[in-house]
Amino acid sequence: MRSVSFGFPYVDSLKILQKFGPGCDFYGHGSSEDLDDLETRLRSGQRYLGLFCEFPGNPLLTCPDLNRIRQLADEFSFAVVVDETIGTFANINVLPVADIIVSSLTKIFSGDSNVMGGSAVLNPRSRYYSCCQKIMREYIYEDTFWAEDAIFMERNSRDFLRRIVRINSNAEAICDVLRDHTLVKNLYYPLFNSSKQLYDAFRLPRGGYGGLLSIVFNHPEQAKAFYDALDTAKGPSLGTNFTLCSPYVLLAHYHELQWAADFGVNADLVRVSVGLEEPGELRLKFRQALQVAAMALR
Ligand SMILES: Cc1ncc(COP(=O)(O)O)c(C=O)c1O
Repeated sequence: MRSVSFGFPYVDSLKILQKFGPGCDFYGHGSSEDLDDLETRLRSGQRYLGLFCEFPGNPLLTCPDLNRIRQLADEFSFAVVVDETIGTFANINVLPVADIIVSSLTKIFSGDSNVMGGSAVLNPRSRYYSCCQKIMREYIYEDTFWAEDAIFMERNSRDFLRRIVRINSNAEAICDVLRDHTLVKNLYYPLFNSSKQLYDAFRLPRGGYGGLLSIVFNHPEQAKAFYDALDTAKGPSLGTNFTLCSPYVLLAHYHELQWAADFGVNADLVRVSVGLEEPGELRLKFRQALQVAAMALR
Protein backbone atom coordinates (compact mmCIF):
# COMPACT_ATOMS: atom_id res chain seq x y z
CA MET A 1 0.00 0.00 0.00
CA ARG A 2 1.23 3.50 -0.82
CA SER A 3 1.69 6.28 1.69
CA VAL A 4 1.07 10.01 1.64
CA SER A 5 3.76 12.64 2.08
CA PHE A 6 1.86 15.69 3.28
CA GLY A 7 3.40 19.17 3.11
CA PHE A 8 6.78 20.16 1.70
CA PRO A 9 9.26 18.07 3.70
CA TYR A 10 12.96 17.75 4.37
CA VAL A 11 14.44 16.49 1.09
CA ASP A 12 15.45 12.97 2.16
CA SER A 13 12.12 12.16 3.82
CA LEU A 14 10.26 12.47 0.51
CA LYS A 15 12.99 10.73 -1.48
CA ILE A 16 12.97 7.74 0.87
CA LEU A 17 9.19 7.42 0.66
CA GLN A 18 9.36 7.64 -3.14
CA LYS A 19 12.27 5.28 -3.67
CA PHE A 20 11.68 2.50 -1.15
CA GLY A 21 8.60 0.30 -0.90
CA PRO A 22 5.36 0.94 -2.75
CA GLY A 23 5.93 4.74 -3.00
CA CYS A 24 3.83 7.71 -1.99
CA ASP A 25 1.43 10.37 -3.19
CA PHE A 26 2.89 13.81 -2.55
CA TYR A 27 0.84 16.78 -1.37
CA GLY A 28 3.50 19.47 -1.41
CA HIS A 29 1.42 22.47 -0.34
CA GLY A 30 0.08 20.75 2.76
CA SER A 31 -2.97 23.03 2.48
CA SER A 32 -6.63 22.53 3.34
CA GLU A 33 -7.27 22.13 -0.42
CA ASP A 34 -4.72 19.31 -0.42
CA LEU A 35 -6.62 17.72 2.45
CA ASP A 36 -9.89 18.11 0.53
CA ASP A 37 -8.29 16.27 -2.38
CA LEU A 38 -6.96 13.54 -0.12
CA GLU A 39 -10.37 13.15 1.48
CA THR A 40 -11.99 12.85 -1.95
CA ARG A 41 -9.53 10.10 -2.88
CA LEU A 42 -10.17 8.28 0.38
CA ARG A 43 -13.95 8.53 -0.03
CA SER A 44 -13.67 7.14 -3.52
CA GLY A 45 -11.93 4.03 -2.17
CA GLN A 46 -8.20 4.79 -2.27
CA ARG A 47 -6.39 3.39 0.78
CA TYR A 48 -3.03 4.31 2.30
CA LEU A 49 -0.64 2.69 4.74
CA GLY A 50 0.39 5.92 6.44
CA LEU A 51 0.64 9.69 6.15
CA PHE A 52 4.00 11.35 6.81
CA CYS A 53 4.28 15.02 7.65
CA GLU A 54 6.51 17.50 9.46
CA PHE A 55 5.40 19.84 12.19
CA PRO A 56 6.37 22.46 11.20
CA GLY A 57 7.78 21.79 7.72
CA ASN A 58 11.22 22.48 6.33
CA PRO A 59 11.98 25.13 5.01
CA LEU A 60 8.66 27.07 4.99
CA LEU A 61 7.81 26.34 8.63
CA THR A 62 4.13 25.86 7.82
CA CYS A 63 2.01 23.36 9.73
CA PRO A 64 -0.51 20.83 8.46
CA ASP A 65 -3.95 20.52 10.03
CA LEU A 66 -3.12 17.58 12.28
CA ASN A 67 -6.59 17.36 13.83
CA ARG A 68 -8.21 16.91 10.44
CA ILE A 69 -5.52 14.44 9.41
CA ARG A 70 -6.21 12.45 12.60
CA GLN A 71 -9.94 12.34 11.81
CA LEU A 72 -9.25 11.03 8.31
CA ALA A 73 -6.74 8.51 9.68
CA ASP A 74 -9.31 7.16 12.15
CA GLU A 75 -12.01 6.94 9.53
CA PHE A 76 -9.89 5.43 6.77
CA SER A 77 -7.40 3.42 8.84
CA PHE A 78 -3.94 4.73 8.06
CA ALA A 79 -1.13 5.60 10.46
CA VAL A 80 0.01 9.18 11.06
CA VAL A 81 3.76 9.70 11.35
CA VAL A 82 4.85 13.18 12.46
CA ASP A 83 8.42 14.45 12.21
CA GLU A 84 8.66 17.06 14.99
CA THR A 85 12.38 17.77 14.60
CA ILE A 86 11.80 21.48 13.96
CA GLY A 87 9.07 22.09 16.54
CA THR A 88 10.67 19.78 19.10
CA PHE A 89 8.87 18.18 22.01
CA ALA A 90 10.00 21.06 24.21
CA ASN A 91 7.66 23.40 22.31
CA ILE A 92 4.88 21.19 20.99
CA ASN A 93 3.11 17.95 21.86
CA VAL A 94 1.76 16.13 18.82
CA LEU A 95 1.50 12.72 20.51
CA PRO A 96 -2.32 12.90 20.91
CA VAL A 97 -2.73 12.88 17.11
CA ALA A 98 0.27 10.80 15.98
CA ASP A 99 0.73 7.06 15.81
CA ILE A 100 4.48 7.53 15.55
CA ILE A 101 6.61 10.60 16.25
CA VAL A 102 10.05 10.79 14.68
CA SER A 103 12.71 13.32 15.52
CA SER A 104 16.29 13.98 14.47
CA LEU A 105 18.29 14.14 17.68
CA THR A 106 21.24 15.38 15.62
CA LYS A 107 19.66 18.82 15.76
CA ILE A 108 18.82 20.95 18.79
CA PHE A 109 18.39 18.01 21.16
CA SER A 110 22.14 17.58 20.83
CA GLY A 111 22.99 21.13 19.72
CA ASP A 112 26.74 20.53 19.77
CA SER A 113 27.11 19.18 16.20
CA ASN A 114 29.41 16.38 17.28
CA VAL A 115 27.02 13.42 17.25
CA MET A 116 24.15 12.11 15.12
CA GLY A 117 21.03 10.27 16.22
CA GLY A 118 17.32 9.90 15.75
CA SER A 119 14.29 8.71 17.64
CA ALA A 120 10.96 7.09 16.87
CA VAL A 121 8.27 7.18 19.55
CA LEU A 122 5.49 4.64 19.14
CA ASN A 123 2.30 5.99 20.68
CA PRO A 124 1.06 3.36 23.18
CA ARG A 125 -2.52 4.58 22.60
CA SER A 126 -2.33 4.00 18.85
CA ARG A 127 -4.28 1.11 17.39
CA TYR A 128 -1.08 0.18 15.54
CA TYR A 129 1.06 0.15 18.67
CA SER A 130 1.47 -3.58 19.25
CA CYS A 131 1.93 -4.24 15.53
CA CYS A 132 4.54 -1.47 15.18
CA GLN A 133 6.31 -2.56 18.33
CA LYS A 134 6.53 -6.16 17.10
CA ILE A 135 7.82 -5.10 13.67
CA MET A 136 10.26 -2.68 15.25
CA ARG A 137 11.59 -5.31 17.64
CA GLU A 138 11.72 -8.22 15.24
CA TYR A 139 12.63 -6.67 11.89
CA ILE A 140 13.75 -3.06 12.08
CA TYR A 141 15.50 -2.07 15.28
CA GLU A 142 19.22 -2.62 15.29
CA ASP A 143 21.36 -1.20 18.06
CA THR A 144 23.98 0.49 15.92
CA PHE A 145 24.54 3.45 18.22
CA TRP A 146 28.27 3.70 18.93
CA ALA A 147 28.84 3.77 22.70
CA GLU A 148 30.73 7.05 22.67
CA ASP A 149 28.01 8.66 20.53
CA ALA A 150 25.44 7.61 23.13
CA ILE A 151 27.54 9.21 25.86
CA PHE A 152 27.88 12.47 23.90
CA MET A 153 24.19 12.54 22.98
CA GLU A 154 23.12 12.10 26.59
CA ARG A 155 25.60 14.69 27.84
CA ASN A 156 24.67 17.26 25.18
CA SER A 157 20.96 16.82 25.80
CA ARG A 158 21.08 17.61 29.51
CA ASP A 159 20.38 21.32 29.02
CA PHE A 160 18.14 20.92 25.95
CA LEU A 161 15.11 22.41 27.70
CA ARG A 162 17.03 25.50 28.84
CA ARG A 163 18.61 25.96 25.42
CA ILE A 164 15.32 25.81 23.55
CA VAL A 165 13.89 28.67 25.64
CA ARG A 166 16.82 30.90 24.66
CA ILE A 167 16.64 29.81 21.02
CA ASN A 168 12.90 30.52 20.83
CA SER A 169 13.41 34.05 22.11
CA ASN A 170 16.49 34.68 19.95
CA ALA A 171 14.55 33.60 16.86
CA GLU A 172 11.76 36.04 17.71
CA ALA A 173 14.38 38.79 18.21
CA ILE A 174 15.76 38.13 14.72
CA CYS A 175 12.25 38.10 13.27
CA ASP A 176 11.73 41.56 14.78
CA VAL A 177 14.72 42.80 12.75
CA LEU A 178 13.58 41.13 9.53
CA ARG A 179 9.83 41.56 9.65
CA ASP A 180 8.49 44.47 7.65
CA HIS A 181 12.03 45.30 6.45
CA THR A 182 11.83 46.80 2.97
CA LEU A 183 14.20 44.17 1.47
CA VAL A 184 12.28 41.21 2.84
CA LYS A 185 9.56 39.85 0.61
CA ASN A 186 8.58 36.92 2.84
CA LEU A 187 9.59 35.83 6.30
CA TYR A 188 8.66 32.28 7.18
CA TYR A 189 8.36 31.47 10.90
CA PRO A 190 5.62 29.48 12.67
CA LEU A 191 4.61 32.53 14.73
CA PHE A 192 3.93 34.65 11.65
CA ASN A 193 2.79 32.08 9.10
CA SER A 194 -0.87 31.79 8.23
CA SER A 195 -0.83 28.30 9.80
CA LYS A 196 -0.01 29.79 13.24
CA GLN A 197 -3.26 28.56 14.76
CA LEU A 198 -2.52 25.01 13.57
CA TYR A 199 0.84 25.26 15.38
CA ASP A 200 -0.76 26.81 18.46
CA ALA A 201 -3.20 23.91 18.71
CA PHE A 202 -0.22 21.72 19.71
CA ARG A 203 1.98 24.28 21.42
CA LEU A 204 2.80 23.55 25.04
CA PRO A 205 1.69 26.20 27.58
CA ARG A 206 5.26 27.52 27.82
CA GLY A 207 6.31 26.46 24.34
CA GLY A 208 7.68 28.84 21.74
CA TYR A 209 8.02 28.72 17.96
CA GLY A 210 11.45 27.16 17.57
CA GLY A 211 14.76 28.28 16.13
CA LEU A 212 14.29 27.93 12.38
CA LEU A 213 13.22 30.73 10.04
CA SER A 214 13.49 31.38 6.32
CA ILE A 215 13.79 34.63 4.40
CA VAL A 216 12.95 35.46 0.80
CA PHE A 217 14.30 38.80 -0.42
CA ASN A 218 12.77 41.00 -3.08
CA HIS A 219 15.73 40.34 -5.38
CA PRO A 220 18.08 37.33 -5.63
CA GLU A 221 21.04 39.75 -5.57
CA GLN A 222 19.94 40.95 -2.13
CA ALA A 223 19.72 37.35 -0.91
CA LYS A 224 23.27 36.68 -2.14
CA ALA A 225 24.66 39.86 -0.57
CA PHE A 226 22.85 39.18 2.71
CA TYR A 227 24.08 35.59 2.85
CA ASP A 228 27.69 36.58 2.12
CA ALA A 229 27.63 39.45 4.62
CA LEU A 230 25.94 37.66 7.51
CA ASP A 231 28.61 37.07 10.11
CA THR A 232 27.48 33.60 11.24
CA ALA A 233 28.49 30.05 10.43
CA LYS A 234 27.27 28.81 7.03
CA GLY A 235 26.23 25.23 6.44
CA PRO A 236 23.45 22.79 5.68
CA SER A 237 22.37 21.52 9.12
CA LEU A 238 20.01 23.07 11.65
CA GLY A 239 19.47 23.08 15.41
CA THR A 240 23.04 23.98 16.25
CA ASN A 241 23.84 25.91 19.42
CA PHE A 242 25.41 28.56 17.20
CA THR A 243 23.51 30.42 14.49
CA LEU A 244 23.81 28.71 11.13
CA CYS A 245 22.74 30.17 7.81
CA SER A 246 22.18 28.20 4.63
CA PRO A 247 21.06 28.66 0.99
CA TYR A 248 18.90 25.67 1.78
CA VAL A 249 16.91 25.30 -1.42
CA LEU A 250 20.01 25.49 -3.62
CA LEU A 251 21.72 22.88 -1.47
CA ALA A 252 18.80 20.47 -1.07
CA HIS A 253 16.94 20.89 -4.38
CA TYR A 254 19.56 22.06 -6.86
CA HIS A 255 18.41 19.63 -9.55
CA GLU A 256 14.70 20.34 -9.04
CA LEU A 257 14.46 24.09 -8.45
CA GLN A 258 11.39 24.58 -10.65
CA TRP A 259 9.64 21.69 -8.93
CA ALA A 260 10.36 23.29 -5.52
CA ALA A 261 9.15 26.68 -6.83
CA ASP A 262 5.86 25.06 -7.86
CA PHE A 263 5.28 24.41 -4.15
CA GLY A 264 6.14 27.97 -3.18
CA VAL A 265 9.73 27.16 -2.20
CA ASN A 266 11.93 29.90 -3.65
CA ALA A 267 15.41 29.00 -4.96
CA ASP A 268 16.95 32.06 -3.30
CA LEU A 269 15.48 31.40 0.12
CA VAL A 270 17.95 31.94 2.96
CA ARG A 271 17.33 29.64 5.92
CA VAL A 272 18.56 30.57 9.37
CA SER A 273 18.87 28.23 12.32
CA VAL A 274 19.11 30.45 15.35
CA GLY A 275 21.61 29.73 18.11
CA LEU A 276 22.33 30.69 21.68
CA GLU A 277 24.30 33.90 21.12
CA GLU A 278 23.54 37.15 22.95
CA PRO A 279 20.35 38.59 21.38
CA GLY A 280 21.95 42.05 21.01
CA GLU A 281 24.90 40.57 19.13
CA LEU A 282 22.58 38.64 16.82
CA ARG A 283 20.36 41.64 16.09
CA LEU A 284 23.45 43.65 15.18
CA LYS A 285 24.77 40.97 12.81
CA PHE A 286 21.44 40.75 11.02
CA ARG A 287 21.12 44.53 10.76
CA GLN A 288 24.64 44.79 9.34
CA ALA A 289 23.93 42.09 6.74
CA LEU A 290 20.70 43.87 5.76
CA GLN A 291 22.66 47.10 5.28
CA VAL A 292 25.06 45.34 2.91
CA ALA A 293 22.14 43.70 1.09
CA ALA A 294 20.52 47.12 0.63
CA MET A 295 23.55 48.17 -1.47
CA ALA A 296 23.33 45.11 -3.74
CA LEU A 297 21.29 46.70 -6.51
CA ARG A 298 23.09 50.07 -6.53
C1 LIG B 1 12.70 17.85 9.55
C2 LIG B 1 13.91 16.96 9.45
N1 LIG B 1 13.80 15.66 9.74
C3 LIG B 1 14.86 14.83 9.68
C4 LIG B 1 16.10 15.28 9.29
C5 LIG B 1 17.25 14.29 9.20
O1 LIG B 1 18.04 14.33 10.30
P1 LIG B 1 19.31 13.34 10.47
O2 LIG B 1 20.35 13.84 9.54
O3 LIG B 1 19.69 13.47 11.90
O4 LIG B 1 18.82 11.98 10.13
C6 LIG B 1 16.26 16.63 8.96
C7 LIG B 1 17.59 17.14 8.55
O5 LIG B 1 17.78 18.28 8.24
C8 LIG B 1 15.14 17.49 9.05
O6 LIG B 1 15.23 18.80 8.73
